[in-house]
Amino acid sequence: MAKALEGTDALYRRSEEIVLRICLLCGRIATMAWLVLIGATFAAQAQSGQPQSVNPTASSVHEQQLLRELDRVTGRVTIPDKRAATLIQPEGREWRRFNVTTLPTYGGYALLGMLGVLLLFYLLRGKIRLENGFSGRTIVRFGGFSRFVHWLTAISFILLGLSGLNVVFGRTVLPPLIGESAFATLSQWAKYTHNYLSVPFTVGLVFMLVIWIKDNLPNANDLKWISAGGGLVGSQHPAAGRFNFGQKLIFWSVILVGGLIAASGYVLMFPFYATNIEGMQVAQIAHSVAGVVLIAIIFAHIYIGTLGMEGAFDAMGSGEVDVNWAKTHHSLWAEQELAKSSQATPAE
Ligand code: HEM
Repeated sequence: MAKALEGTDALYRRSEEIVLRICLLCGRIATMAWLVLIGATFAAQAQSGQPQSVNPTASSVHEQQLLRELDRVTGRVTIPDKRAATLIQPEGREWRRFNVTTLPTYGGYALLGMLGVLLLFYLLRGKIRLENGFSGRTIVRFGGFSRFVHWLTAISFILLGLSGLNVVFGRTVLPPLIGESAFATLSQWAKYTHNYLSVPFTVGLVFMLVIWIKDNLPNANDLKWISAGGGLVGSQHPAAGRFNFGQKLIFWSVILVGGLIAASGYVLMFPFYATNIEGMQVAQIAHSVAGVVLIAIIFAHIYIGTLGMEGAFDAMGSGEVDVNWAKTHHSLWAEQELAKSSQATPAE
């Protein structure tokens, strides 16, 4: 019996020894694996050029990378508004930068640049005068409806332009001049103005297209007008029909750029109705760039219709222009109109 107990004890001690050895071996293997892992990490860091010391901004670097790679961070929501699932949209930062920096900077250059060019042109060329003076006889250039359409579109556009410029430049320019509180009130009214006047502007665009498209289609006279520099330089006045090539450019800019402004404006006015967040950003960028471009173009139009050319404003004021003005600036159109009126006058 005692012998049997002795044998069991020896067996027990032997197995204890084996377990201890296995544990020691495992410990050594784990230590070695850990050392190899640390070594590999340091080697990888050294290879990637990253500092081996603790880098407190490392997590933000990873965040940037994550955003870039995932494109957007979108989760899951159970509320009806699924857009709330997008927590972070990296393009939003680009969009914000465009609105805070790019648009005011280049928009400012474009608008001030155009005013500078017009001032320079005025100083060099002066007002374009009628060489033979006024004849005292007039012909109808635009009837009541055409003038109504013009002024409907023009007045809405000017107010839309001013209230739009307030969005781009107002916060920088106005508070130091009129104070924060007046600026807030003004901006609120500017916003109402901007939203509601979009309707008459769009209606005006559609009517303009209908009543003037036939006189604004390109034709062979345009090439002659272009090769003569439009009569802007020198004292020559190239022959032109009802609208010369410069006016056709204005017309098509108003229709196409104005059309883009209107369409993108309605997308913005009804947020997320027609598109998603990226679409809203594209619409906003298109709206603001097209708006600034058309304002710059309209500066030139207003200049030539008022200060720049003697007798031009009457066309949209009273609707009648002097016969000498018509013969000088729109000779082909004047010939046609005078031929029509001489046919209508009964022979004496
Ligand atoms: C104070 C502002 C404005 C003045 C004094 C003015 C003046 C004029 C005049 C005098 C004409 C007739 C030119 C001719 O007899 O051939 C005209 C035509 C026209 N206006 Fe205006 N305008 C103004 C604003 C606007 C605005 C804001 C728009 C559009 C957004 C516009 C669009 C047009 C178009 C499309 C024509 C026909 C094509 C052309 O003559 O260029 N105008 N304007």
